[in-house]
Amino acid sequence: MSHGLVTAAYIISALCFILSLAGLSKQETAKQGNYLGVTGMAIALIATILNPETSGVTWIILAMVIGGAIGVRLALRVEMTQMPELVAILHSFVGLAAVLVGFNSLIDLHPEAATNVVVTAGADLETTLEAVKEAYSEAAAAASQHALTGAMLNIHLVEIFLGIFIGAVTFTGSIVAFGKLRGVISSKPLMLPQRHKLNLLAVVVSFILLLYFVNTAGSTIAVIVMTLIALAFGWHLVASIGGADMPVVVSMLNSYSGWAAAAAGFMLSNDLLIVTGALVGSSGAILSYIMCKAMNRSFISVIAGGFGTDGAVSTGDEEMGEYRETTAEEVADMLKNSSSVIITPGYGMAVAQAQYPVAEITSKLRAAGVEVRFGIHPVAGRLPGHMNVLLAEAKVPYDIVLEMDEINDDFESTDTVLVIGANDTVNPAASEDPGSPIAGMPVLEVWKASNVIAFKRSMNTGYAGVQNPLFFKENTQMLFGDAKDSVTAILNAL
Ligand code: TAP
Repeated sequence: MSHGLVTAAYIISALCFILSLAGLSKQETAKQGNYLGVTGMAIALIATILNPETSGVTWIILAMVIGGAIGVRLALRVEMTQMPELVAILHSFVGLAAVLVGFNSLIDLHPEAATNVVVTAGADLETTLEAVKEAYSEAAAAASQHALTGAMLNIHLVEIFLGIFIGAVTFTGSIVAFGKLRGVISSKPLMLPQRHKLNLLAVVVSFILLLYFVNTAGSTIAVIVMTLIALAFGWHLVASIGGADMPVVVSMLNSYSGWAAAAAGFMLSNDLLIVTGALVGSSGAILSYIMCKAMNRSFISVIAGGFGTDGAVSTGDEEMGEYRETTAEEVADMLKNSSSVIITPGYGMAVAQAQYPVAEITSKLRAAGVEVRFGIHPVAGRLPGHMNVLLAEAKVPYDIVLEMDEINDDFESTDTVLVIGANDTVNPAASEDPGSPIAGMPVLEVWKASNVIAFKRSMNTGYAGVQNPLFFKENTQMLFGDAKDSVTAILNAL
């Protein structure tokens, strides 16, 4: 494949990726967006393998077959609720790849250091000399090929340094995010004394090391020290963020992994990697911003780590009063007598896989003339769009699935709200208790409806670990049990 063809293929891939992102922004076109992304990636891989500059194709294909097999196996086995964990661990691979590409570029910069002389035991002097000569000329050829000087060399050195730095931060940060989401690392924020100053120190020392690295035309020691600092920095950055902010962290790491890929693209002089990295980096940053707005967190503070945990004093454990229980039959009666119903699903609906009976109840009530709509909180569940995907899977019509902002004013005029496995996203403490860890987070104002039914298995807290005053309000009744069982019982009673 000629260079011109490779470039043309890269441009087509980049266009596919841009159109893919555009497609993914709407439910109706999401599938098409996915196909475009897959097509773009397939074109990119084929063009890269057929690129005349690519060597070691057998190794690449072997690695792809092994990696692909593991990827397909994992993708088939992963539950929807484990998706954020999978995404987090995949980000860590991107980070690690950027670190490895960085070190490889550094070795390329000093090829003589990496040249091996193979001397066979018992070989005579002539053969040994021949081997040394060969190694020397290989090194000289490589050196002349990569000989960069002046500004070009400095730019390349900065690329290497930044690529390794961003990659290392992404690598350990994503591992901590994976651990927190999986529950193997506590979701409580790590509160080291002077933690913001520690972060600042890490950045300042890394900057000084960058200057030294450029001045010494690629000091290996500087880059190794920086890598260790960046690994610790990434770990600390995510460890100091509390559970309630984790969704933002996952999309922020998504953004970091994009910038790490773009940095790798600069190091390898690969335009497509730069474009793709920038697309992932900026779309991740935009998503983080949107989610920060949805949770009323400051974007900069979340990136700096640990915000939202300083002033949080209330755990919500204080006495809340009495709660009332109800039965599936009573809820069925209440629904039959309602003219408007809003369903606000959350993580529990995903765990119970209750979306199918929920969809059936919806069509039954709609057939009986009851207005049924869904209210979706931007961070309901465990990943962006989690609820939308589940409801689409169960064939709930898109036009009755509304965003929080579109439906929040309508609760007041609603007869019955079914809160199915949601907790933090419907917690009035967010707007009523300034000491709550979720204070200021916009929530679905379900308590304004005439009747609220909360589907849960116990009085346990949700993801953020705070108790929910909604469950103790006059107009709320609890329907205990697995959400799927409860919804199916209501369906039968209907
Ligand atoms: P949560 O606040 O986590 O509440 C889920 C509720 O579902 C729990 O109270 C749980 O109570 C109940 N539940 C669990 N399994 C159930 C089952 N089988 N049947 C019935 N109920 C069940 O969920 P949410 O309201 O969707 O809020 C999302 C939370 O996750 C937010 O704090 C958000 O910040 C965080 N988060 C979101 C994301 C994204 S991007 N969406 C990513 C990571 C974290 P019981 O145990 O008593 O049943």
